[in-house]
Amino acid sequence: MKLSDRKATLSFSDGGEAIEFPVYEGSVGPEVIDIRKLYGQTGMFTYDPGFLSTAACASGITYIDGDKGELLYRGYPIEQLATNCDFLETAYLILNGELPNADQKADFDHQVTHHTMVNEQMHFFLRGFRRDAHPMAVLTGLVGGMSAFYHDSTDINNPRHRHISAIRLIAKMPTLVAMAYKYSQGQPFIYPQNDLSYTGNFLRMMFATPCEEYKVNPVVERALDRIFILHADHEQNASTSTVRLCGSSGTNPFAAIAAGVACLWGPAHGGANEACLNMLEEIQANGGVAKVGEFMEKVKDKSSGVKLMGFGHRVYKNYDPRAKLMQQTCKEVLQALGLENDPLFKLSMELERIALEDDYFVQRKLYPNVDFYSGIVQRAIGIPTSLFTAIFALARTVGWIAQWNEMLSDPEFKIGRPRQLFTGHEPRQVAEIGKR
Ligand code: CMC
Repeated sequence: MKLSDRKATLSFSDGGEAIEFPVYEGSVGPEVIDIRKLYGQTGMFTYDPGFLSTAACASGITYIDGDKGELLYRGYPIEQLATNCDFLETAYLILNGELPNADQKADFDHQVTHHTMVNEQMHFFLRGFRRDAHPMAVLTGLVGGMSAFYHDSTDINNPRHRHISAIRLIAKMPTLVAMAYKYSQGQPFIYPQNDLSYTGNFLRMMFATPCEEYKVNPVVERALDRIFILHADHEQNASTSTVRLCGSSGTNPFAAIAAGVACLWGPAHGGANEACLNMLEEIQANGGVAKVGEFMEKVKDKSSGVKLMGFGHRVYKNYDPRAKLMQQTCKEVLQALGLENDPLFKLSMELERIALEDDYFVQRKLYPNVDFYSGIVQRAIGIPTSLFTAIFALARTVGWIAQWNEMLSDPEFKIGRPRQLFTGHEPRQVAEIGKR
């Protein structure tokens, strides 16, 4: 963090003493006012529900410029990573700060590939769930449960332990997601196969059966790999902040990542891709493209409580760059699978066209986000809607673990402990039960 020449001055309208605060510059992006001494000097807190103006940490991993529609992992534009790198290269970059050279890539791929199997006891743990349980409920349990299986590497102060946990989490997440899916289908679990890529292996664990050979379709493999890259990190979003806050107490990495999975589940965050596809299917069932106008009127009517899922973003107020890449992938996959005339894709294009021309959306700077297209791609690949958020969790695991690692290595790291503006009762006395 670089101290700026400027200082911020806080003054009070009642003539109270003005106070100066240091200002820090980031490498790019907005400066921050360091208010850590505010309470000590004034006895006051800041009030910022939803963290609209609060930087909760310093981070060197991901940078987003919401106005420009720019997303960088470790300085590299998402467009270049999505076009030139595979997911594991991107994961290496996010974890280590630099892209791997050929030897480093081979070594990292080897480490991840050789940690993809899960302890056989995890099968019994999974079998305790109902078969119709939501995959995110199962995944939250399984990831948390890993802390009971891999407790030889949970010393969070030991960088070697942190590395082993990172590799285990990245490697085993696809196995767990595929197991959760197979269990829901009543099919046997498919063990990982080491001669396949990270994403090819996941596809095989999802869709192969012991009865016949499964051939990975390279277009599908590349599309899913791109979905993983686009979801790998997104700076201090709700689930990442949850992982940091949970991890700040010193809990073990699997517990912290399980908290991230739980947070991601919500429809305003990772659950949006599932909600988006459910919305498209509902419009389709109620008349399809002809009914888009009617649906949009409902979205604009605040009293209806209906939102256009897959639209809007807390940070991107121009365009979500991931949505552009996903739209392109969506076209490629539908073409490769002969689904160009897919009615849901046509419906989504029509929704997008109307929304981008409509004053309601233009004025509020609401654009399609990554989830608007990723659901259509996943559906075309054969992934059931209820598994979409689990795929997001699989991809985001590297971001969570890198952010957790960065937090623990930060000399300024402290347990997270927000404060509040108390609006409840002033102190009062407990009356005897008969007098209440
Ligand atoms: N449909 C209709 N109106 C919307 C939508 C939408 N999808 N999103 C925002 N608005 C309206 C909102 O009602 C508000 O209107 P007004 O100013 O009249 O009160 C205005 O736009 C500003 O929205 P906001 O809710 O204050 O914005 P936010 O930054 O708090 O919320 C959001 C961001 C993503 C939660 C929200 O846009 C939303 O719920 N979108 C749909 C869910 C979705 O697609 N989420 C995925 C996000 S991308 C994946 C990820 O990174 O997790």
